[in-house]
Amino acid sequence: MEKGQLLYQGKAKELFQTEQPDLIWVEYLNQATALNGAKKDQIKGKGELNNQITSLIFQRLDEKGIRSHFVEQISETEQIIQAVDIIPLEVVVRNIAAGSFSKRLAIPEGTPVKFPIVEFYFKNDELDDPMIIEDHIKVLDIATDEEITTLKTMALAVDEVLSELFDEIGILLVDFKLEFGRTRDGSILLADEISPDTCRLWDKATNEHLDKDIYRRDLGDLIPVYQEVLNRLKGE
Ligand code: TMP
Repeated sequence: MEKGQLLYQGKAKELFQTEQPDLIWVEYLNQATALNGAKKDQIKGKGELNNQITSLIFQRLDEKGIRSHFVEQISETEQIIQAVDIIPLEVVVRNIAAGSFSKRLAIPEGTPVKFPIVEFYFKNDELDDPMIIEDHIKVLDIATDEEITTLKTMALAVDEVLSELFDEIGILLVDFKLEFGRTRDGSILLADEISPDTCRLWDKATNEHLDKDIYRRDLGDLIPVYQEVLNRLKGE
């Protein structure tokens, strides 16, 4: 397969055309950002860790019947994915209170929530990705009622599979963010990445952060922590 023209320059990934219109070449970058891009750094090794972690997770989800855009990992930092139109929503699932949920509702971090919560945020840099409700999603024609139901069902299915996967390796899946896309025939696929950049992962024994909060909160070097997550996923 040939790497063609740059299609999209993201904060953490670049997407390139291939000679097959339905397949995209993704390169994971070493860039870390937080606060909607206001904090930005190059962190050597981050791209390959997130590529490997995401690839393993999408493979595991596929085995459990959850379809994503993932096709194959082709190098340390690269994947081939199926082309989709990204739905401009961040779908967040929460099992334990943390981050913006704790802040917004004054619920101490670490408090278990009664049942997994699904939240929607509008992917819009100018507006700073505001939380939106289902009626907003419909009024703005971002997704239909039926699609919203599919997004919630898929997000909760991912939560079930990943909570179990991480539990097996001594990690608490606190919360995470998903993105979805539409294929040409209109079906919805899980898309983007699932990595310590997009999940809150706490060590079950020590409650230590094994995720991007290390970077967001200036708690130290994130590379050994992401490596630890990868090692555990690989059973090493
Ligand atoms: P939050 O507590 O800041 O709303 O984040 C919830 C989860 O979503 C957390 O695991 C981090 C992830 N997330 C992203 O991956 N990208 C984002 O832009 C935001 C705001 C959160």
